[in-house]
Amino acid sequence: MAKLKIGVFGAGRGMTMIHQLLGNPYADVAAICDKHRPTLDRAGKAAEDAGVKVELYERFDDFFNADMDAVVMANYAHEHAKFGIKLLNSGRHIMSEVLTCASLAEAVELIETVERTGLTYAYAENYCFFNTTYEMKQRYQRGDIGEFMYGEGEYIHDCSSIWPQITYGERDHWRNRSNATFYCTHSFGPLVYSTGLKPIKVQAVEGVQQEFMRKLGDRSGSFGVELITMENGGVVKSIHGGLKREPGSVNYEMYGTKGSMETDRWEGGNLHVYIEGDRNCVGEHTKYRPEFTIKDAQGAGHGGGDFFTTHYFIRSLLGDEDAKKNSIDVYMAVDMCIPGILGFRSILNGGNAVEIPNLRLKTERDKYRNDTFCAFEESAGDMFVDAMTMQPDKSETPDEVYAEVRRRWLAGEPG
Ligand SMILES: NC(=O)c1ccc[n+]([C@@H]2O[C@H](COP(=O)([O-])OP(=O)(O)OC[C@H]3O[C@@H](n4cnc5c(N)ncnc54)[C@H](O)[C@@H]3O)[C@@H](O)[C@H]2O)c1
Repeated sequence: MAKLKIGVFGAGRGMTMIHQLLGNPYADVAAICDKHRPTLDRAGKAAEDAGVKVELYERFDDFFNADMDAVVMANYAHEHAKFGIKLLNSGRHIMSEVLTCASLAEAVELIETVERTGLTYAYAENYCFFNTTYEMKQRYQRGDIGEFMYGEGEYIHDCSSIWPQITYGERDHWRNRSNATFYCTHSFGPLVYSTGLKPIKVQAVEGVQQEFMRKLGDRSGSFGVELITMENGGVVKSIHGGLKREPGSVNYEMYGTKGSMETDRWEGGNLHVYIEGDRNCVGEHTKYRPEFTIKDAQGAGHGGGDFFTTHYFIRSLLGDEDAKKNSIDVYMAVDMCIPGILGFRSILNGGNAVEIPNLRLKTERDKYRNDTFCAFEESAGDMFVDAMTMQPDKSETPDEVYAEVRRRWLAGEPG
């Protein structure tokens, strides 16, 4: 059987997927696109070193015409739906990096495009595939802790030292403009993936922007917190953003009617489980390091998670039913993402609850079909709301700030 021809759009984070694909027995990297030539050349060199011939493109429109069966989308986080819809309409399967979409209107269009084309959409939320979070899913689905009552997801990552390397001094870079609750799927996603529950309501707050990020050109709250009610009445607290803690904190807790599970705050890779017996408040606590379900994941980035997203995507395209079951489809991807968009609406309403639609239901779609509300002006049109709207200091960031960040990026200096 001929190997699948895979395109990679965006060769920064996209390098991770390129490395996962080089040497894959079922798929070849066929084309890579990045408008930044040095990044593109670095990716081309990695392929060449592995003996794989790839076409390199700086422009998306040229890449679009390349011979590809599927595309890995590692371009800007707020443009995945926009470009993904074009690719699906041209007959290509897609795997999307985080985030899913910029607005509710895009969520509706993305879902309808996947339904109409019948092609594969996979969401690369790699935090669902740690040895710990994947184990939480298995145990929850087995019923070990009973019915979900409360959970927490935490993604604390102070990016200030790498800000020049990830925003390049571009005022309009999505990282400088995202509302504080936008990047919510690393914290919230694993709770959705484990429980399979749909979110129905969100209340959110954001942290006050701090000087150390303002000086780097960021224009949003320092962190976002979403309180999300799930369809069974359970509640999730999702927090993410740049707080001071090294190494960063990636943690999950789940409480059910028969017990609880949580990751280890300082010793990553461990899972704590409490299971209650027949008597209230009497049970057993165990702590262990879950094994990877596939040994090849050992050593892959993000606690092995980077292996599984690409692996399940490729295996799904080959018709592997187990891979399809493990992969995150477009409905779940939207469930993980839209609480962050609607969370911003809640922040603007002083933290009041905002309903989260179930966009699997065609009857719920019309209300959101034209809802372009978001903090990205080019996607939002007249529904644009600046991410700084609720911040105490909304003063403009001078051009010199971005010039200095750019200088540091080019000089390889930290933020
Ligand atoms: N899952 C994870 O652990 C993880 C980690 C890092 C980044 N990400 C995600 O990966 C994506 C990429 O992030 P990044 O860190 O590489 O930074 P980024 O968003 O700045 O990089 C995007 C890359 O795509 C290129 N690009 C964007 N639009 C383009 C266009 N229209 N034409 C040609 N090239 C274009 C840029 O030049 C850049 O190299 C983002 O969506 C981010 O959220 C995920």
